[in-house]
Amino acid sequence: MNAPVLDRTTIVGFLADIFERRGAEEYLGEPVTMAEHMLQGAWFAEADKASDELVAAALLHDVGHFTSEFGAYSPDDTHDKHHDDAGAEVLEPFFPSVVTECVRLHVAAKRYLCATDPSYFSKLSVASTHSLQLQGGPMNADEVAEFEKSPHFREAVRVRLWDEAGKVAGMQTRGFREYMPLLQRVVDRHLIAAA
Ligand SMILES: [Fe+2]
Repeated sequence: MNAPVLDRTTIVGFLADIFERRGAEEYLGEPVTMAEHMLQGAWFAEADKASDELVAAALLHDVGHFTSEFGAYSPDDTHDKHHDDAGAEVLEPFFPSVVTECVRLHVAAKRYLCATDPSYFSKLSVASTHSLQLQGGPMNADEVAEFEKSPHFREAVRVRLWDEAGKVAGMQTRGFREYMPLLQRVVDRHLIAAA
């Protein structure tokens, strides 16, 4: 595969292309495709009046399942990584830390919520309950304290709740392309501010 040339002007179209080519893939054990799942997450984020950055995080939180698409831009070892770390790494050159932290922490946030919110466990889907065990189960007290050190842990928890909600069979949402202006705003604010 030719390595994509990714910069501020191409990253959003590149992400749209991934969604369109690969979005129909199964989201393991859930009644939605990968694209439906991520678009539903963004939908719930918008319904909660979240910032552009958090809508972007909800929309892109599982992009780590597609890091092979990033070619030379994917760090050498992402294939050995879990999709949360890998997704954060491929987004990191373009998106602000609040977005990449929410992506990086979205699995940990499930373990955090299971430890700190007694009502949360009952909201998990069957597949998510199963994967919780593989992911280490609810956090212990030390892990909870470590998680809360992230400056964005509260935002990561919000993204996790939208992630969990976004598993509704047949739900109508916007398409990915409708989010392109929002994503471009987030990228531009970050990269132009950093320049
Ligand atoms: Fe997800």
